[in-house]
Amino acid sequence: MLITFEGIDGCGKSTQIEKLKKYFDNKGIGYSVFREPGGTEISERIRSLLLHDTDEMDSVTEILLFSAARSQLIREKVIPLLEKNEIVILDRFYDSTTAYQGFGRNSSSLNDIYTLNKLASHGTVPDLTFYLKIDPKTADQRTKGNKKDRLESAGDDFFKKVATGYDMLASTDKRFRVIDAGRLPDEIHREIVDIIGAYQQ
Ligand code: TYD
Repeated sequence: MLITFEGIDGCGKSTQIEKLKKYFDNKGIGYSVFREPGGTEISERIRSLLLHDTDEMDSVTEILLFSAARSQLIREKVIPLLEKNEIVILDRFYDSTTAYQGFGRNSSSLNDIYTLNKLASHGTVPDLTFYLKIDPKTADQRTKGNKKDRLESAGDDFFKKVATGYDMLASTDKRFRVIDAGRLPDEIHREIVDIIGAYQQ
């Protein structure tokens, strides 16, 4: 089963993934977690190019690098685990590319992005996608004081556009579950666990 987490920076994704890991641990349920971009040696090297390089990166180069990191992770780690019927949790997947590069940056046509997403994921589609929806202003306040990477420094307008992208995706694809991420972490966690339980039945 493939579960993905999406949302703008500061939506509380990492907190929720940590809580879900503890929940599975307590139940003795096996799982694997990977973050995008990253999760394999090659993908982590691409990640450092994407997040820490200070030089101006061409927007198409950016999409291709995210996709390259993804392709490696999916082929090397995710597909073999899914074939063994394991639970895989992804901290971001191709919906991030659609929302950030497609809507946030307008780097390329959505059709091109969808084609690339399909290629880079080797046709893998999540069973459930949790979209932690939060007002961009609240998210920005949460991340204030954190050291921001290249993409996180992009500004308010950018995150509004990214959020519009997620809203569009969530309204058109049934695998999405929109989670109100403005609530207390434990409340959000309970909702997520309930949704996973109901899905597995
Ligand atoms: P990360 O530090 O993992 O941020 P977060 O904890 O919020 O997920 O950095 C990932 C950054 O890369 C984040 O700002 C979103 C961005 N990103 C894209 O722009 N496109 C993509 O396809 C992916 C996977 C991430």
